[in-house]
Amino acid sequence: MNDALEPVSGWTGGGAVGEASGAAWTDRYSHAVMDTFGPPQRVLVRGEGAYVWDADGRRYLDLLAGIAVNALGHAHPTLTAAISAQLGTLGHVSNFFGTPAQIALAERLLAIASAPDGSRVFLTNSGTEAVEAAFKMARRNRGTETDGDAPRTRVLALEGGFHGRSMGALALTAKAAYREPFEPLPGGVEHLPFGDTAALDEAFSPAAVAARGGVAALVVEPVQGEAGVRPLPEGYLAHARRLTSRAGALLVLDEVQTGIGRTGSWFAFQQPEIGGGVVPDVVTVAKGLGGGFPVGAAIAFGERAATLLGRGQHGTTFGGNPIASAAALATLGVIERDGLLGSVRETGDLLRREIEAAGNPLVAAVRGRGLLLAVQLTRPVAAQVATAALDAGLIVNAVAPDAIRLAPPLILTADQARDAARFFASVTVPEEP
Ligand SMILES: Cc1ncc(COP(=O)(O)O)c(C=O)c1O
Repeated sequence: MNDALEPVSGWTGGGAVGEASGAAWTDRYSHAVMDTFGPPQRVLVRGEGAYVWDADGRRYLDLLAGIAVNALGHAHPTLTAAISAQLGTLGHVSNFFGTPAQIALAERLLAIASAPDGSRVFLTNSGTEAVEAAFKMARRNRGTETDGDAPRTRVLALEGGFHGRSMGALALTAKAAYREPFEPLPGGVEHLPFGDTAALDEAFSPAAVAARGGVAALVVEPVQGEAGVRPLPEGYLAHARRLTSRAGALLVLDEVQTGIGRTGSWFAFQQPEIGGGVVPDVVTVAKGLGGGFPVGAAIAFGERAATLLGRGQHGTTFGGNPIASAAALATLGVIERDGLLGSVRETGDLLRREIEAAGNPLVAAVRGRGLLLAVQLTRPVAAQVATAALDAGLIVNAVAPDAIRLAPPLILTADQARDAARFFASVTVPEEP
């Protein structure tokens, strides 16, 4: 073998399959990996399409896709080829230079977002970083004395909202358990009750502005993901758009979880029942964008939003690197070529219908859109259901004590959806005595 192709000591890449048992890997994990996630449910070694295999050789239907990430499933040949080809051509340059992949990705994102002239993209490595960029844009949207208003110092977000764990993104994230250990967080953020237009009216009212300052931005998820797949009520975003426009505030849509085809359109806000036809100021994306390769973006709509961050006011070493950009272009290309936006709607509807039709008394309803769904349970036994699913060869997520989240690859077939529905038709959890 050519020396250059010899595996390096200690790691043989994909060849790790069968090297050790799941129990042995888990033990090593507990001694080497920081305990922020708790012990791994399984150690996974390989994937193909909608399936993954664990270190003990068991196969699972992946109905979570790395939490709404693996849009094309695992080891998709087009994605693998695009990443390999880019790595073999030009893997990384500094942001002192541009690359064709980076430029083409920014153009493509503007096109699928139907962003108006003057719009621009900031490329990142994660959803958190995309949100952080949006937060910095909000801080630059202070307003000037000539606006005649109070300076825009407040940033509004919603209860239940999740936007990431860096200090800025955490300030926007509502959950007290995530926030409190790290206070003080960047100030000026207010959390409003979810989907409550009266609360929104109050936050923008002259009295609130006089007492607490003007609003620089409202940051919302069109469908709250981590809060248990909660779509905003119809009409909310249109109302929010009217108020933000009037106040000169940015309407920031966090589509990190809902974007890139997950709900059956490129972005959730593009569906009239969700977006009500709004044009946002900023959309954040990540997760599905790279099909599993880390990449994200903050898309600024129109010249005003696109010029809030001037030269030197933001940066990143890896963001927009050619490999991540090639991965994203390949992912977007496959979604378009294979008509996945349509099949997401069809497969999502099928999955929802079949689960609901089975009439399991443990299942109250299924909510969500496309392939971002939550199975609402009639009892708070989501953890037990998720464990039963794993034992039955399915990966799902107990997103709330009484709700299971499903966010499978966008390539999920009808037969695979039926396999998933069969599990929900028959799963039982004994009542506590
Ligand atoms: C809506 C939303 N925003 C931001 C984030 C943070 O993204 P990341 O984990 O890629 O940093 C997430 C992650 O779950 C998310 O769901």
